[in-house]
Amino acid sequence: LHCEGDKALEQAAQRGCGLCFIQHCRLDTMSVFSLRKEGLSKCGRCKQAFYCNVECQVREDWPMHKLECSAMCAFGQSWNPSETVRLTARILAKQKAHPERTESEKFFAVAEFESHLDKLDNEKRELIQNDIAALHHFYSKHMEFPDNAALVVLFAQVNCNGFTIEDEELSHLGSAIFPDVALMNHSCCPNVIVTYRGTLAEVRAVKEIEPGEEVFTSYIDLLYPTEDRNERLRDSYFFNCDCRECITKEKDKEKLEIRKLDEPPSPEAVWDMIKYARNVIEEFRRAKHYKYILCLTLTPICELSLEKMGVIFEDSNVYMLHMMYQAMGVCLYMQDWEGALRYGQKIIKPYSKHYPSYSLNVASMWLKLGRLYMALENRTAGVKALKRAIAIMEVAHGKDHPYISEIKQELEDH
Ligand SMILES: C[S@@+](CC[C@H](N)C(=O)[O-])C[C@H]1O[C@@H](n2cnc3c(N)ncnc32)[C@H](O)[C@@H]1O
Ligand SMILES: [Zn+2]
Ligand SMILES: [Zn+2]
Ligand SMILES: [Zn+2]
Repeated sequence: LHCEGDKALEQAAQRGCGLCFIQHCRLDTMSVFSLRKEGLSKCGRCKQAFYCNVECQVREDWPMHKLECSAMCAFGQSWNPSETVRLTARILAKQKAHPERTESEKFFAVAEFESHLDKLDNEKRELIQNDIAALHHFYSKHMEFPDNAALVVLFAQVNCNGFTIEDEELSHLGSAIFPDVALMNHSCCPNVIVTYRGTLAEVRAVKEIEPGEEVFTSYIDLLYPTEDRNERLRDSYFFNCDCRECITKEKDKEKLEIRKLDEPPSPEAVWDMIKYARNVIEEFRRAKHYKYILCLTLTPICELSLEKMGVIFEDSNVYMLHMMYQAMGVCLYMQDWEGALRYGQKIIKPYSKHYPSYSLNVASMWLKLGRLYMALENRTAGVKALKRAIAIMEVAHGKDHPYISEIKQELEDH
């Protein structure tokens, strides 16, 4: 299934084409900033939007970018609408220019999206009102809006039907709407995976699917135990999952593995530690919003919490893995390749056990490991890791995906 979507580009990252997200400049694992930056074509008016080529810029994105171009010039430094606001502005513009069903709405139209309007609490309503205020603030010179009630519905629809787009190492690239793809329900043991190629979303089976069987994708990170997953699903999507994994909770025990000590910790101590871990994760998530400057303070937070949790949790425990993953991210950001590699090596085995057999999280971890090994001149381990990544990606992304050609090229070059 292919679905052409509407996208909001991540302006801050400015490292890929504003239309198709193809990257010209790597800021991921190896931070080789240079690569193909020269090739980028820049919007001559705002000088803030970048594209692969004139085709992407003029033919494809201009009808959407023109919404923002003059606003970007006018607001200058204070141009900072959120990704959701930018995406919603594009949806409104597209709906106006194209009132009929689009090519991407063969099965499911934006107008049919679930909003769960009746279930929004005050906090969620307030967040939506902030988005609406920002929409008016940044876009009112250039477009007309439906009334407030209709905008609340639209933002609520975008919140539970939107997609976030990541690159092959799972770095965030932007947000998008792919109406037909949004028709799929969630399962924690999904039978398909969604990947992206330029402006297309692609859906591939990762399990045998019998005729008549429902197609399920996963909306969330499947690392965490059943209770955590369902809290996340309720909060963002307003439902409880009743998939096989949620009913049997088969993987929960391993995901919450406790250290085997002569004197095992009391259930209260374990429960306190789980609550502590969830708190740290939440705090960390909030801290990361405040840019990476905080990296300097994040490493000690990771290490401190790993030390504290390590008294009770095994290294394979998902809360330990979460903190190690964050610590690895900080190492990568600070170009501490050896440090990143040490964390990655500890993460990969339990990761492969906790996630389903085909998982983008596992593929991207093999990929990061492979690239780190290669850079650190351990070719044997590098080749092995990159091949593990390719094996998963050939199923999830399709054998002819540009990401795979890129990795194969890296194998040849070394
Ligand atoms: C992206 S939409 C999927 C399409 C949706 N089923 C519809 O018909 O509009 C997400 C919403 O679908 C519902 N949903 C998705 N997966 C579900 C599941 N496994 N069990 C129950 N409801 C689910 C929830 O209401 C969720 O907010
Ligand atoms: Zn492009
Ligand atoms: Zn421009
Ligand atoms: Zn489930």
